[in-house]
Amino acid sequence: MTAFSSQDPCKTQAWARLAQHAEHLDSIRLSQLLDQADRFDRFSIKVGGLVGDFSRSLVTPSILDDLVELAGEVFLPEKIQALFGGAMVNGTEKRAALHTALRGTGPAEASQLTGNRSPTEDVTKQLQGFLAFADSVRDGSRVGSDKRPFRHVINIGIGGSDLGPRLVADALATSSDPVIVRFVAGIDGIELQRALDGADPATTLFVICSKTFTTLETMLNAEAAKRWLLQSMPSERAAAHFAAVSVNDRAMDKFGIPDDARFRIWDWVGGRYSLWSAIGLAAAIATGSGVFKELLAGAARMDRHFHEAGLPDNLPAMLALISIWQQNFCGIRDHVVLPYDQRLQLLPGYLQQLFMESLGKSVRADGVATDYLTGCPVWGSVGSHSQHSFAQLLHQGTVKCHVDYIAAVEGSPTGDSLGHQAGLANMLAQAESLARGQSRAEVVAVLELAAGNQPAAMELVPHKIHTGNRPSNIILLRELNAENLGAMLALYEHQVYVQAVIWGINPFDQWGVELGKQRAGEYFALIAKKDASKLPRISKYLFDWNE
Ligand code: F6P
Repeated sequence: MTAFSSQDPCKTQAWARLAQHAEHLDSIRLSQLLDQADRFDRFSIKVGGLVGDFSRSLVTPSILDDLVELAGEVFLPEKIQALFGGAMVNGTEKRAALHTALRGTGPAEASQLTGNRSPTEDVTKQLQGFLAFADSVRDGSRVGSDKRPFRHVINIGIGGSDLGPRLVADALATSSDPVIVRFVAGIDGIELQRALDGADPATTLFVICSKTFTTLETMLNAEAAKRWLLQSMPSERAAAHFAAVSVNDRAMDKFGIPDDARFRIWDWVGGRYSLWSAIGLAAAIATGSGVFKELLAGAARMDRHFHEAGLPDNLPAMLALISIWQQNFCGIRDHVVLPYDQRLQLLPGYLQQLFMESLGKSVRADGVATDYLTGCPVWGSVGSHSQHSFAQLLHQGTVKCHVDYIAAVEGSPTGDSLGHQAGLANMLAQAESLARGQSRAEVVAVLELAAGNQPAAMELVPHKIHTGNRPSNIILLRELNAENLGAMLALYEHQVYVQAVIWGINPFDQWGVELGKQRAGEYFALIAKKDASKLPRISKYLFDWNE
């Protein structure tokens, strides 16, 4: 077994036993399982300020036992050690995946993988550097070209160089924070225009976040930001209005990023795992270094749990194994993320990249095509919004989805406590309704009570039946603070890793993204030349609408 070896999970003995369980799916009735007195205690795990309740999953104790056996047969415990030990778990790119080292829980020494430097030494230096920079922007000691403190900070980045810091800033920054932090990812310039609204070039700092410093969207926006600054200051003064995070020193030199405003990441941090590095700079500016350190501490707590807990008590492993069971054996399709907290409105988008870029693979790490389902679509929105848009399909549609409901016991200090209680009530009601449904007998009883035994009322019976047995998890935070947010994001990262190990795929590469990027580069040049001959046919309208 090597760290990046993989095997066909369908050939394991446990998979065969799970297939036998799947023949009796009809006998799994969530309404009955949930009535068992010990169901919640057996199917929930608490880690610090976070509880994962998976009691509304379509699993029984014996299915769970076989899922744990499956994990053993594909060497999950060894592969967890490999991840934390700095082994080359990203085989196609010949890299370790050391995002845990950014939170102090990775290997102390992995010098052979990191250019003969200790990651901890490098990580500590960069962490101290970017957090001090963040605080200096916040306290006004870092100033723009005319010595005035920064008032607006605009992060320019996309994908992993945007989603994580944007989520953390949106969830945790408060109105008393001294600077306004905005995020720009879109390629068409509109998001940048909106972010610049009300900003004064003299008091605006741009943070260019790009691991590669070549991503088209980011480079176009960074150049546009430079042009905006140059309208009101000479180029030698514009440099004071930029900071950057990248592995690409040469590109940062060329762009003119000052030495004391550039921060390094490493090729062993994947884009979608990079929030914990200096890519989090804008989030640290928005919230302060203290909050950012708590975020790291929360993630580290979940890392230790994942690293040390036995599989049956291991929350990320349980969520992943149940997800595999429901997807590969129960016909559950999409993974829907519904936070009942406005501060987590960006979580579905963040998890979309984490899950879908990591698990959207149809070839195993050993190069063999899978003949079983792997990553599924992930989507969602704030829970209360969803109830008035797509939740109908979750309850009665022909596609069955898995839902993660997320909420905090304590509401936001600036929110409405009555509204928070109402949100919690709605979340619990949604989860129970999906699980328990409403039988024909229940519907008939309700209709009879309301309308008497009238034939017209009875026509509604089939429409009001809810089959139930639709699975969901609840992730409940004690409060939505940096520590618990960090723990939850790390929980999901590790869930993804476990699913990848079981399916035998590499969660740390993203070759599928590259093809489109490459073709877009060619098309971009052809559009600039107005040459439709090698473009798709519809492109003739780009150049002459009346053709
Ligand atoms: O979307 C592909 C991707 O490579 C992501 O993995 C990454 O987060 C994003 O592009 C941005 O890349 P970069 O940080 O190099 O600009």
